[in-house]
Amino acid sequence: MTEIASPGLFLPEEKKAWFTHDRFGMFIHWGIYALAARHEWVKSREEIDDQGYQRYFDAFDPDLYDPKGWARRAREAGMKYVVLTAKHHDGFCLWDSKATDYKATKTPHGRDLLAPFVEAFRAEGLKVGFYYSLLDWHHPDFAIDMYHPLRNRENAAALNVGREITRYAAYMREQVTELLTGYGKIDILWFDFSYEGRTYKGLPGKGRDDWQSVELLKLVRRLAPDIIVNNRLDIASNTPDVITPEQYTPRTPPLINGKEATWEMCQTFSGSWGYHRDEESWKSPKQLIQILIDGVALGGNLLMNIGPTARGTFDQRAIDALEAYAKWMHLHSRAIYGAGRSAYIAPDGCRYTQKGNRLYLHIYNWPNRYVHLDGLAGKVKYAQLLNDASEVSWVGASTDPHFVPPVGETTLTLDLPVKQPDVVIPVVELFLKDA
Ligand code: GLC
Repeated sequence: MTEIASPGLFLPEEKKAWFTHDRFGMFIHWGIYALAARHEWVKSREEIDDQGYQRYFDAFDPDLYDPKGWARRAREAGMKYVVLTAKHHDGFCLWDSKATDYKATKTPHGRDLLAPFVEAFRAEGLKVGFYYSLLDWHHPDFAIDMYHPLRNRENAAALNVGREITRYAAYMREQVTELLTGYGKIDILWFDFSYEGRTYKGLPGKGRDDWQSVELLKLVRRLAPDIIVNNRLDIASNTPDVITPEQYTPRTPPLINGKEATWEMCQTFSGSWGYHRDEESWKSPKQLIQILIDGVALGGNLLMNIGPTARGTFDQRAIDALEAYAKWMHLHSRAIYGAGRSAYIAPDGCRYTQKGNRLYLHIYNWPNRYVHLDGLAGKVKYAQLLNDASEVSWVGASTDPHFVPPVGETTLTLDLPVKQPDVVIPVVELFLKDA
């Protein structure tokens, strides 16, 4: 990738220190698609036109909306920041935007959803970010393209006549200005997404020229100099604020030109981002916690998504998932916050995270009963299980003749209790000697 001359467009490392420290955030996908309850892309997937989609707008009344309750659950789960879909691809806005009538205040609910949200999450000590969709399947100047609900209309090209993307780009700037000036200090802006070059039936995709990305990002920087902006504006850079792998766990730390990048993976509790009533692929507590550990062990963050219902509630499955995090994080958060990748290589079925001279061994498969830590002989002064601070002892290198195969001189062999501690993923905290 060639470096684009972009002085001031991206953040220096020190401005991202809070973000890499905090490691764990909550993503929230919420909008009128929650009523359809079958994926936030329902308008595109089912090729629903504006008139057909209007029934969700007309029925939207989240009478049980309780942002304070959401924020409390996020904090209890150990999440330190939140990113909410102020606008998703369907174009619906959760706030009282002056630029459109396609917003919460014009639905039966009749109230702005963003101001109480921001207030509630800040009150729980979380940093606040907004997701803002670059796609907009409602805006009249947004040309029909491969993702647009009308893409298969025979007259799609004719319907595009008169659609002026520059007017749409100006609309985005106006809305982003509202979001960055009306709600106090916003910490993250999550744009989604660019697809330059993806042409469908002669309908071109969209990228930085359509969004006027550089102008948009300059505006963002002017209004919010310290804000973290994700990498989906289609502006090439060697130093994007954050790169955003989605729905999978990288196997190695993401690099840009050989240098480790700041990154955050986004994931879902089940396969959908928006509330999906009938989706059944919910991840187990073990998977959820491993995703978090896997990310931090590779030096990344996790933005874990929840899709609230159209009543404004978290459904029971989501609450259970959050509680799995809450329970584990209550005992193990110090292996997550401020921790990152270790130079040591963890044994099979384990991960390391490290913070200074505390090395955390996350044990995915509880062994019977030794675990061998290569390269750590003579380097550890104390070890304990993190869940109850109970001492873990070790046997000296090569002192036990019964090991098959014998362990090497540099291996430290921990002697673990036979019974796994009653936590989803046990962690051993190793106090390293000063280097
Ligand atoms: C994907 C989904 C989109 C979601 C996003 C979050 O692009 O299609 O709906 O908002 O991921 O990263």
